[in-house]
Amino acid sequence: MRGALVVLLLLSGVRCHGSVDQALLDEIMNNPHWSEEYVNTCNGDKIGGDPGMYCHIYRIFLYTVKVEVRSLEPFLIVLKEFIPIEYADSFLEEIKKEELHIQSTVDQNTGKNAPSVGRNANGTFLTHHRYPISSKIFNHIQQRFPSIDFRKAEQFQVLSYNSGGHYAPHNDYLQYVSEEVANRCPWYREGGNRLMTFLFVMQTADKGGGTVFPRIATSVQPSKGDAIVWLNLDAENGKLETSLHGACPIWEGTKTAATLWVRVRGNELLLPCANEKQFDIERLLYPSEKQLLLKRDWKCDNGCYAE
Ligand SMILES: *[C@@H]1O[C@H](CO)[C@@H](O)[C@H](O)[C@H]1NC(C)=O
Repeated sequence: MRGALVVLLLLSGVRCHGSVDQALLDEIMNNPHWSEEYVNTCNGDKIGGDPGMYCHIYRIFLYTVKVEVRSLEPFLIVLKEFIPIEYADSFLEEIKKEELHIQSTVDQNTGKNAPSVGRNANGTFLTHHRYPISSKIFNHIQQRFPSIDFRKAEQFQVLSYNSGGHYAPHNDYLQYVSEEVANRCPWYREGGNRLMTFLFVMQTADKGGGTVFPRIATSVQPSKGDAIVWLNLDAENGKLETSLHGACPIWEGTKTAATLWVRVRGNELLLPCANEKQFDIERLLYPSEKQLLLKRDWKCDNGCYAE
């Protein structure tokens, strides 16, 4: 019975993935962090088939930004052609100087680094202004989202995946026992949790390599230069479990992405006033110069900013 089920899974996998290398597919299907459902969701980019999706363009200062709205709850947008191709190319050239290390996790029992089953990728961290090109990209991002303070983002995390690479679905928010315990750690106290993820696609795989959001049955198959952006927390600092996402398996080629995790402290411009539970997502959907001039009323009944 179990054998038949496995065969069925593999067959449906084969049907969905065309000429995908069978050994790679077996490896992913046998990985306890992946499932047939996840892999199948990876396979279909929902463009055109997603009734909730729409697109718009906004202009901020002198810049034009193309936005594909994939979901409002949870908040998920794709910024099309966001990073100029020549920036992405210089970035790829520059990071050749960096040693990308295989990503591991800390073994709970031994406290030593152990290879991760849930993730197969090489990566490193880069400070925002480490290279002229990372600096240029950082400023490019900041100019287009003036409501967000990207200085309050962690370093760029650069991840590169060859064929067989993947990062099984996970959440980006930091897990901790309680806010009080977390606040004992200065790194946490300073920044707070990971409010948003900005994932910049610098290089796309030849086959596979999208980003899957299983809770909303969506995957994004980006083009080079696109950015995928989502919220990890709700407006009350609660963890948004629907932000679960994974880096789909790479079947052929190499994918390289750079991520910025924007931390919650210092980003109060996005917070709602009074009793609204939603972030001020207008500021993310249609950033405008006018919003920046608006002085927000900080004296709402229940306080805008709960300490
Ligand atoms: C990580 O880097 C090693 C050495 O360059 C390479 O052989 C391997 O394929 C890489 N792994 C992934 C998942 O990209």
